[in-house]
Amino acid sequence: MKIFLTCILSFLSISQGWRDYKVRKFPENFMFGVASSAYQVEGAWNEDGKSESIWDRYLHNHPEVVADGTNGDVASDSYHLYKRDVEMLRELGVDFYRFSISWPRVLPTGFDNEINIKGLKYYENLIDELLKYDIQPMVTLYHFDLPQRLQELGGWANPEIINWFVDYAKVVFDKLGPKVKYWITINQPNSICIDGYGESMMAPAVDSKGVGEYLCIKNVLLAHAKVYRLYESQYKTKHKGSVGISLAVNWIDPLNNSTENSEAAKKAREFTIGLYMNPIWSTKGDFPALVKEIIAKKSKEQGFPRSRLPKLIPEEIKLLKGASDFLGMNHYTTSLVTPSTQEFPSPSFADDLSVDFHTGKDWIQGKSPWLKSAPYGLYKACIHVNLEYSYPRMMITEHGWSTETGLQDYRRGAVIREYLGALLLAMEDGTDVQAYTAWSLMDNVEWTAGVSERFGLYEVDYNSPIKKRTARQSALIYKHVIESRVSEDGWFPSSLNISITKKKKAPVKAEL
Ligand code: NOJ
Repeated sequence: MKIFLTCILSFLSISQGWRDYKVRKFPENFMFGVASSAYQVEGAWNEDGKSESIWDRYLHNHPEVVADGTNGDVASDSYHLYKRDVEMLRELGVDFYRFSISWPRVLPTGFDNEINIKGLKYYENLIDELLKYDIQPMVTLYHFDLPQRLQELGGWANPEIINWFVDYAKVVFDKLGPKVKYWITINQPNSICIDGYGESMMAPAVDSKGVGEYLCIKNVLLAHAKVYRLYESQYKTKHKGSVGISLAVNWIDPLNNSTENSEAAKKAREFTIGLYMNPIWSTKGDFPALVKEIIAKKSKEQGFPRSRLPKLIPEEIKLLKGASDFLGMNHYTTSLVTPSTQEFPSPSFADDLSVDFHTGKDWIQGKSPWLKSAPYGLYKACIHVNLEYSYPRMMITEHGWSTETGLQDYRRGAVIREYLGALLLAMEDGTDVQAYTAWSLMDNVEWTAGVSERFGLYEVDYNSPIKKRTARQSALIYKHVIESRVSEDGWFPSSLNISITKKKKAPVKAEL
């Protein structure tokens, strides 16, 4: 009878797309973690020798850009309360904690001429506390908080930053390297460059639309690659860690399957995913051909003597190709696109891209205006990456959901489980993913949204002197997921009913 039922159910699963009842399990060595970043949680913005970051400067000078007027001066005060943070990690039962190092805390001048021992000590203490409880540190070297002193020299638009970043990484690898197995060089180049040098949505809010963004992207990618090569040649053998980069890989579909919409979606994927992935993971290296073509053509029409997208010379292409042990995928949402009907400022990234973004009818809305739940998008993003870039090793380095304050956050738990369901299906279809990271361990300063959008599994009471942290309902759900590592009812909801044909599995590697 049991066999009969299994046959019927697996038949149904094939004929109806994804809505089957099969129990799926994460592999034994699959890792679950949570993440945060320095500016968003540490506070202590000017303590123990830390210098000003671009976010300190931006929000001190422009409190009006923050929805609720808060900033990262004190934040969750993790600089002083890191032991409580580790206690929460133990409560959750995570395998690793992804956090970032504040460059201006370690190198107050931005350069390695002066090392702030107290700043480094904070990270060493945090790592020791994690390791004491068998929680692996996953360390991000750069999560948006550049030393202000370097910004005054042009920040990520100045190619010299590639050397400065390498010098900084060396200091960190020398001091913390033996204790860290997972490194992320840079978090979300798109936020750094598009939002920081074009759209003025993030610090340093330099308005250099259509030009600054692309200079920044080239320098960020090269800085990543140089640090990857540094680790590979000088640290890997002795420290045995791996190094990746975290990219925003949200999914983009056409609003419907018309040719124009499908082309718009393809273009949008090249501008939002390919621009960062191609140089590292594609067989040809370099920026995507379509992106190069569009920007070169527009630049010419706009009277520029050469393309606003800087060239990658052969030596740089070589440096970048294969420069990552894994793809850190930050995935939050999905959009549907059509060719644009708007007039954008010219030149600008928005104008180069020229698509309009829409949302699915039934997609649930998070507190953040840009955040909608569409779990199938994670599945599609994984399959896309597999097919375009030959099944790279991946870790989901961020995924999360924003709410109002309050402990009853049923939706966050449900969203995490549904996305994990989509991830399991992607794994079944060949995705080589080793880790999932929930954003975030606790509420934090959501950049210019302040603390009006809460992403935490733990709520932070910002009015209490000890920044009291309390587990939300979702923390208990996530804890249960980590313990059981098995899918349950509700993980594969009908909204996941993507009846796209299953793609081929990862090629079996030939035995040597
Ligand atoms: C990605 C960023 O890395 C993180 O800093 C931010 O808080 C989350 N997205 C949520 O917006």
